[in-house]
Amino acid sequence: MSKPRTRIAGTGKAVPSKVLTNDDLAKTVETSDEWINARTGIRERRILEEGRTTSDLAAEAGLAACATAEIDPKELDCIICATISPDMPMPAVAVTVQQKMGATCAAFDISAACAGFLYGMTIADGLIAGGGFKKVLVVGVEILSRVVDWTDRNTCVLFGDGAGAAVLVPSTDERGILSTHLFADGAGVPMLNIPGGGSAEPTTLRTVEAKRHLVKMQGKAVFTNAVKNISRASQIALEANGLEPKDIDVVVAHQANLRILEAVAERVNIPIAKFYLNIMRYGNTSSASIPIALDEATREGRIKPGDLLLLTALGAGLSWGSAVVRF
Ligand code: ACO
Repeated sequence: MSKPRTRIAGTGKAVPSKVLTNDDLAKTVETSDEWINARTGIRERRILEEGRTTSDLAAEAGLAACATAEIDPKELDCIICATISPDMPMPAVAVTVQQKMGATCAAFDISAACAGFLYGMTIADGLIAGGGFKKVLVVGVEILSRVVDWTDRNTCVLFGDGAGAAVLVPSTDERGILSTHLFADGAGVPMLNIPGGGSAEPTTLRTVEAKRHLVKMQGKAVFTNAVKNISRASQIALEANGLEPKDIDVVVAHQANLRILEAVAERVNIPIAKFYLNIMRYGNTSSASIPIALDEATREGRIKPGDLLLLTALGAGLSWGSAVVRF
């Protein structure tokens, strides 16, 4: 007997109001709107105001998702926060989110970088299929502006802040998560990481002076691996469900780089017009990018009830995955 399905009952997002354009960035590092747009498709990103934190944005997105799903946060059985930029290393940011949302349920974080929402959704699907949980909130949230080196033009132009969330519940019809596939390859650790601040390099004056607490990236290696692995994960998702590329209504992919997504579209043979794109407005918001895109695409009417969605992402780890969802 196949397992009962889990469906997305509601989505929400929260993005800071402060906009940082490419032209703004060009005033502080040697870059240009033309270079950034041509290489990445990004025009602007959002930056969280001083004094606000990851949990503030996550709670806002979580409350919006609960409102869409028409549930009280007190009904939640579990909150999973996917993030690599929590309020603090300990405890999990999910417990602060629980407090700020007025929820009383279990709460924990997962770390899978840009693939975090897909990992979280897969865990939530399993928790619900196991029968112990009925309403699980998955939040993808990042305040990357606090972990990027604003003097490094190779990385600072790419990232932005934001949060997206989805409430998952048992499905009573054909809608729901049809498959998830998760992958990781630890050989990718040197390609994208924050080397300082953990047990490998505990924080000292020296690690801070050397900026070891900020994002380091080998852009070309990430690019090549992203195209290859996102494409393969997408093909695996289609094959697992006996689907053709033409069966997919909307692709909600991690918004890393427009050129990565164009290359994936070509390899997977799904027109780029079927990809929901908002990278131009938010840049790369890592684990938040898929749930933000899901929320915007549904509110704009791009995703309709019953549509077949392909979700896919790759990020630091390397960690990546794909999912097929009947919305
Ligand atoms: N503005 C102007 N020039 C720049 C900038 C900038 N912001 N950044 C780099 N350059 C320069 C480089 O210094 C280099 O100059 P040089 O030739 O004098 O040495 C030149 O531009 C070309 O640099 P490349 O690194 O070859 O540029 P590339 O075409 O590879 O594009 C980019 C760089 C955009 C980072 C690309 O490699 C990329 O998108 N990689 C994927 C990274 C990514 O998406 N990371 C996000 C996290 S992981 C994920 O979400 C999948």
